[in-house]
Amino acid sequence: MNETLDITVTKTEQTRLTVTDFSQLPFGKVFSDHMFIAEYENGEWTNLQVLPYGPILMSPAISALHYGQAIFEGMKAYRLADGKVSVFRAEKNFERFNKSATRMAMPSIPEDIFMQGIAALIEIDNKWVPNQDGYSLYIRPVMFATDPYLGVKASDKYTFALLTTPTGPYYSKALKVKIETEYTRADEGGVGYAKTAGNYARSLYPFAEAQKEGFDQLIWTDAVSHEFIEEAGTANLIFVIDGKLVTPSVRSTVLDGVTRDTIIKLAKKAGIEVEERRVSVKEVIEGIENGRLTDAFAAGTAATVTPIGEIGYQGQVYKLTDPSTRTVSAGIAKTLNDIRYGLAPDEFGWNWIV
Ligand code: COI
Repeated sequence: MNETLDITVTKTEQTRLTVTDFSQLPFGKVFSDHMFIAEYENGEWTNLQVLPYGPILMSPAISALHYGQAIFEGMKAYRLADGKVSVFRAEKNFERFNKSATRMAMPSIPEDIFMQGIAALIEIDNKWVPNQDGYSLYIRPVMFATDPYLGVKASDKYTFALLTTPTGPYYSKALKVKIETEYTRADEGGVGYAKTAGNYARSLYPFAEAQKEGFDQLIWTDAVSHEFIEEAGTANLIFVIDGKLVTPSVRSTVLDGVTRDTIIKLAKKAGIEVEERRVSVKEVIEGIENGRLTDAFAAGTAATVTPIGEIGYQGQVYKLTDPSTRTVSAGIAKTLNDIRYGLAPDEFGWNWIV
């Protein structure tokens, strides 16, 4: 049994619950009343606190700002049918957070700080967990380097924070995506598998260019040949080809998505054949054209299961099957949601009741 950590709690004097419109919750804009902070110094995590959400004082010289030592995670807490709150697969996000930390030469966060921080925050901000269908409390763990030092080296000091934001789905409609063949997201030996700020920073310009052309999101291809599909940056990608669930295998350039893994497990349990392998652009485009590709969706914590409606490739736009007719992704999304909201048995033990 883990010991209970000493977390200092300072409550807000004025809750923002009463002035928050829970029917208007764009992703990541409204933060709950409190946040959790821990600081790393002299090789130890100290100063564990729950405090009112708000700005923190930092030197403009901190190395996260200059050299990008910053990692994050995304997970969700759901209001169950019986009113309790459950965090979905927190273990997986914890493990991935520390994998990202290792790759970015940052210290690991101990499991009890990560988990007890979440529990403390949800206890104090329990009322911020929405109870509408499709809504949840998004939990954003983040760690960044805080040495005020301009030499290029791994920082000696870090801040770990947990922020929470009540939210609906990240995407509100089927996506029109562009297969990107000029810019790249990640390369072998790089940091593609880590959830680090720079991966998102480098995607912003190509994403903005694609938006100008009318696309909602990019599909990244491999940096060497641009022939293979990798992921979408905000989510992994899953296709249904010849009735099988086909998804790019996780490799050093692809994030090992928790929702992706969850869907694979649910599909296998439902008797759907799953192929995790390299998926070529050619196969996808031909599959759309010859009707063998019947479903395609983005899968992520924020994205949940979002259908892909159209794919742009080399100046042409390919229309996929009508999302409202798709049974595979709709069935998986329903099973997943039922488990998350406590409406179906949690056979895999994914719900952590906090
Ligand atoms: C998540 O799904 O939690 C993510 O981190 C994607 C986010 C960048 C929107």
